[in-house]
Amino acid sequence: MRVTRFLCLALPLLAMSACKKAGEPVAGGDIPIGEFASMSGATASFGQASHKGTQMAIDEINASGGVLGQKLRLITEDDQSRAGEAATVVRKLIAREHIVALLGEVASSRSLEAAPICQQAGIPMISPASTNPKVTEVGDNIFRVCFIDPFQGTVLSKFALSKGWKRVAILTDVKQDYSVGLSQFFKNHLGANGGEIVSEQSYSSGDKDFKAQLTAIKGAQPDAILASGYYTEAGLIALQARELQISAPLLGGDGWDSPSLVEVGGKAVEGSFFSNHFSASDPSPAIQAFLKKYREKYNSEADAMSALGYDSAMILADAMKRAGTTKGDALRNAIANTHGFSGVTGQITINAQRNADKSAVMLEVKEGKFSYVETVAP
Ligand code: PHE
Repeated sequence: MRVTRFLCLALPLLAMSACKKAGEPVAGGDIPIGEFASMSGATASFGQASHKGTQMAIDEINASGGVLGQKLRLITEDDQSRAGEAATVVRKLIAREHIVALLGEVASSRSLEAAPICQQAGIPMISPASTNPKVTEVGDNIFRVCFIDPFQGTVLSKFALSKGWKRVAILTDVKQDYSVGLSQFFKNHLGANGGEIVSEQSYSSGDKDFKAQLTAIKGAQPDAILASGYYTEAGLIALQARELQISAPLLGGDGWDSPSLVEVGGKAVEGSFFSNHFSASDPSPAIQAFLKKYREKYNSEADAMSALGYDSAMILADAMKRAGTTKGDALRNAIANTHGFSGVTGQITINAQRNADKSAVMLEVKEGKFSYVETVAP
């Protein structure tokens, strides 16, 4: 320690490199920003969509001069949708790439793997789309730009009750913190408001056969079924439910938002409803302009994850500008002070729990499209 201090004082030139802290960008160089995403594997559509949105924001920021005179450099790591892999790639981004901030992930379980690592390293992390409340509870370096599941569960329960669906069955993916939480929050609200959970069934991510659970659900004669997991299984669940002559409507959360839901589920998902962060059919100029730019850049349609990925990078750049620095506590505090930022997914204010208070939308699967039903304010 003494020797280092001596060197720093005595040899200013050497000191510049010897005393440089990890995470500090080289003056005049690029600002390294990490991103971890499921670019491959079971939920690849999540990672690819959020990455495209994130990259589009970074490209736009750089095209308009970057941040504080420097360009942003997005370094993306694929966690392959695999448990354990998120921690590995995030450690690598911090140790080898000296990132100043981390963007990601979509899936709550993987954000929960990375959050303690960022918290300990003092690297701000912004999740675009992880809605489980535990993610930001990890510590004061962890943020998100989306709503959380106690709200989403309430939105879904209120919607079910408004349709007169009081007797609801629940099918939960026990391997996903997101699904477990969403089912619980839905159950709490429905139970406290005159509804009843008539059957509670579970499965594990990757399962393909849901007949046993659905047979039990059929026996309980529910008015509706909440499938609180991801689209990967929701499409199959819908198909098998219809095969078993179950006609009750299906309900889901934001984890349903993928074109694959319809590709897999086909007619079986028609007439189902799910809550989401935004609707592509929303005429809002911000949303329509975003969709157009995205289409031009990628020749594909943006979904909620693309829009949230875009917003997460824009919020980070905005905080850097307000902080007047690209790193450390000043950057963290600036992210925490985000107030009324006009994002594609709405006005974003980071609250005291480092979550965003935002509206949700209900969508219906209609003729293979996700059609807008209503907006629900927090
Ligand atoms: N909210 C989900 C989770 O926390 C992820 C997700 C977000 C999926 C948006 C689809 C769309 O795991």
